[in-house]
Amino acid sequence: MTAASAPGKVILFGEHAVVSGFPALGGAIDLRARAKVLDCPGKLLIETEGLFVSGFSLDLLSGQVLCRQASHAARYVSAVLREFDASDLSIRIESSIPPASGLGSSAAITVACLAAVSRHLGHDLPAKEVAALSHRIEKTVQNGLGSPMDTALATFGGYLRVCRQVEPLALPPLQMVVGDTGKPHDTRQQVAGVQALKERYPDLVNPIFQAIGAISSRAAGLIEEQNLSELGALMNANHGLLEALGVGSRELSELVYAARNSGALGAKITGAGGGGCMIALPGPGNGKALIAAMRQARGRAFPAVAGCEGVRMEADT
Ligand code: PMV
Repeated sequence: MTAASAPGKVILFGEHAVVSGFPALGGAIDLRARAKVLDCPGKLLIETEGLFVSGFSLDLLSGQVLCRQASHAARYVSAVLREFDASDLSIRIESSIPPASGLGSSAAITVACLAAVSRHLGHDLPAKEVAALSHRIEKTVQNGLGSPMDTALATFGGYLRVCRQVEPLALPPLQMVVGDTGKPHDTRQQVAGVQALKERYPDLVNPIFQAIGAISSRAAGLIEEQNLSELGALMNANHGLLEALGVGSRELSELVYAARNSGALGAKITGAGGGGCMIALPGPGNGKALIAAMRQARGRAFPAVAGCEGVRMEADT
């Protein structure tokens, strides 16, 4: 048996502007996907289990679906298995990361699966190669779409600055609250909408991207100094700029304002917007109040720590 786990992620600052080459800042969070590989002669099984991936079992060799509930996880796992030309294995995936919500669920599944399968088959891949291969696999499954941020954070953990290149940053952990609208979002559609707005109004949208990039650049220093009130102010400013780009939604705004009204130092959309998740920075001792207020506003809210460990091999438990 070989097992590995990898974290999800949040984009703290800079989404959308990063597509046009401005800096963004992301952090790995303490929600994880876990892949467990076992020898299974004559079969190639994928099984999923967990809070956010519902159970099913599929034998890729016979094509037999043993329990009929498809999950997005299978597409990434089977792409990893193809990469290694694997057979006679059973892969079990568990994940506590909500899918299609901007929290890096598919990257975490891909990275955990790749680490576990490669180790099980006797390949010792350096982390850099795990990140590069996972990014290529994720992009193939997603028809060419996917920034390197998700797979790099799932592999290396911590924080990353992305601006054409991906650069790790050594910063302390950051306690936050994630609010999930429960509405899946479509990153491709949101990116296309913002890029189309930029085509129509370059003189308006470029300065917005520039302002978002300036916020991302300042944020790392504020996390370093633990200047949370200024960091919160920048989250609010970044949120306003994302609204200006047209990626807000009523559900996201309700969660943002529920958090701010119950004492968050700042709150913003995380990821592509239009649905998916937002993040809030709690003030001293008010994390529970934020979560209660965001649940009242019909969100799934939970605490998360940014800056967590990347992919790791796991003992069987
Ligand atoms: O897919 P998400 O929700 O994690 O967001 C992607 C972030 C964007 O900047 C909108 C797109 C990208 O490729 O960087």
